[in-house]
Amino acid sequence: MSPSILRLTPAAALLALSLAACQSANPYASIKQAVPETPANNPVLKERGETPEQHDARMLWFRDARFGMFIHWGLYAQAGGEWKGKFVPPNNGCQEWIMHTARIPISDYAAQAKDFNPVKYDAEKWVLAARDAGVKYIVITSKHHEGFAMFHSKASPFNIVDATPFGRDPLKELAAACRKHGMKLGFYYSQNLDWHHAGGGSGEWDPAHQGDPGRYVEEIVLPQVREILSNYGDISVVWWDIPGGVINRERADRIHAEVLRLAPHVILNNRLGGGYHSDIETPEQHIPPTGFPGRDWESCMTMNGTWGFSKFDHNWKSPKILLRNLCDIASKGGNYLLNVGPTPQGEIPAPSLERLAVMGAWLKQNGEAIYGTRASVFPKSPSWGRTTTRRLASGDTRLYAIVFNPPQDGVLKLENLANTAKGASLLVGGQKIAFQSTPEGLSLTLPEALRTQEDFVVAIDLAGAPNLDPAIRPEADGAFRLSPRRAALTGSLALQGAASAGLSTSGGESLASWINPQSTAAWQVKSAAAERVAVKLWLAAPASSAGSELELACGDQVLKITVPATGQWNNFQEVS
Ligand code: GLC
Repeated sequence: MSPSILRLTPAAALLALSLAACQSANPYASIKQAVPETPANNPVLKERGETPEQHDARMLWFRDARFGMFIHWGLYAQAGGEWKGKFVPPNNGCQEWIMHTARIPISDYAAQAKDFNPVKYDAEKWVLAARDAGVKYIVITSKHHEGFAMFHSKASPFNIVDATPFGRDPLKELAAACRKHGMKLGFYYSQNLDWHHAGGGSGEWDPAHQGDPGRYVEEIVLPQVREILSNYGDISVVWWDIPGGVINRERADRIHAEVLRLAPHVILNNRLGGGYHSDIETPEQHIPPTGFPGRDWESCMTMNGTWGFSKFDHNWKSPKILLRNLCDIASKGGNYLLNVGPTPQGEIPAPSLERLAVMGAWLKQNGEAIYGTRASVFPKSPSWGRTTTRRLASGDTRLYAIVFNPPQDGVLKLENLANTAKGASLLVGGQKIAFQSTPEGLSLTLPEALRTQEDFVVAIDLAGAPNLDPAIRPEADGAFRLSPRRAALTGSLALQGAASAGLSTSGGESLASWINPQSTAAWQVKSAAAERVAVKLWLAAPASSAGSELELACGDQVLKITVPATGQWNNFQEVS
């Protein structure tokens, strides 16, 4: 098959390229591309009965915080990845799933509580480690899937105060230490899976677990949710895990209403179930390539491979990776919820503390590029690092170029940025950095000495709001990437896959709803010279839409593309 050719007109001309649906009874097709980011709508307002302003005000601390600490601590720490003297390979990396993985009967598992005595637990030490790491909020497991309450619960004797020799309520102590040091506190609560209490989600390997899910929600979940929201002062986040199972719409409604009655300002994640979107998306163990434009989100990640403490997992990520993850996430407008799994003695493992200290030292100097910033304004991350943005009270913008690895020639390109720069300097020490406006955008030239450095920040002051030339230019490989997000749409076309409420998304976006010939998607393209280009599209259409035609127009040239049957709406096929 010969490639389709598209001719671009000479010298920096602006072109409109459109993909239009035409001539078919049912010509649905989608075009899939990589995704840049811009704000989109927010699905949570309705659930909370909020105006956008109220929502923004409630979410402000979270958006500014950028860095939180996740703490997975429960009876699973006592097992530490071992049962009856044998290593239990963790399910999907999750050591805290040991009861499920090894199909441990309820009474055997619960018997561990007699030995759980974390006498080295010192809440203030934990909070100070978090604070010195630059962490702004803590989310701790109040009850994980094992069903064990890490707080004094009247709803079930299976709790740390009544069932262990320790006899203290660690969440009380943690709440007090957080209050003392100005740290926000949130509680993880496993509302669906509960392998201990009859009627809870899963737990089918032990007949003693059989029971009525409705009763489980009434007698365990609701009372315990009331307890964690009533007895520990101001709770900033309730971190549900995981949706589905016993939490149907009706039960989710009951729980949601109860939470809002007790904590009207609390931030909720998207894992309640029953169709609730809630405040934040929760990608797990990954960073979505473009964040969730228009949605608040938080990537939770482990430092080794598991959430709960494991004696066997020594596979620690380097501090550099953890730091860069934080910068990457901030550049995409999200928060990093970085996990620690304390030991059965009650201590945060030393390798975690070492990493936190390195992060804290960097943030102490460079935190301005992270805290209170907003996502990068560029559709794509630069190859040399990441950028974040801050709107200044004056109406100007401060842009932070976080340089992971400077290019050899020392030139940092901020592509398509059309603003006048007022100045650029190193965040640490204030050394001035040379800059220049070019037709391709703003470029900075690093002094020789900086070109061999890593992980530093250049702050760039721009006049006014960021102004990005919308035209798409060729990338290093010569390709113009026409992403769905950058298309100007008319008619029925809609961007799809932007902000899903699911547990995770691939981040892939497409243009959907090609149902009438009036619908167009147009991109502006800028090329330095006349050129012939091959066109590649990624299309998805079921058999009923196959044979529909798309028109690709550039200037007065029109190319007709016949839509193939690809099997399904989400089964994309490359068409040249
Ligand atoms: C998962 C796991 C769980 C862990 C959580 C953290 O859904 O079930 O063990 O607590 O993710 O995001």
